[in-house]
Amino acid sequence: MDPNYYKHHVFFCCNQRDGGRPSCNDKGATDLRDYCKKQVKKLGLAGQGRVRVNMAGCLDRCEEGPVVVVYPEGVWYRYADQSDVDEIVESHLLNGRVVERLRI
Ligand code: FES
Repeated sequence: MDPNYYKHHVFFCCNQRDGGRPSCNDKGATDLRDYCKKQVKKLGLAGQGRVRVNMAGCLDRCEEGPVVVVYPEGVWYRYADQSDVDEIVESHLLNGRVVERLRI
């Protein structure tokens, strides 16, 4: 049996912080996480042995955000908009190719 319940487990920081350090939700993280989840479902990638997209609290890379991390690879990305999310979904989650231009 595969030791990983999910092939790719994706965590979007959706933290909202008021004042002080910037936070990922200032830059639309929750909306873009929802968009990612929808695209993953649409492509039939969601579920056991495939992909799970979750919200996370602060991952402590706030100044680099908005950030998302994909496990088990431990690859971190900074994304800006839906087209960046599309690229992560299609390249990394669907085809297993890391998106180097978004990697941090
Ligand atoms: S607020 Fe997103 S990493 Fe801290």
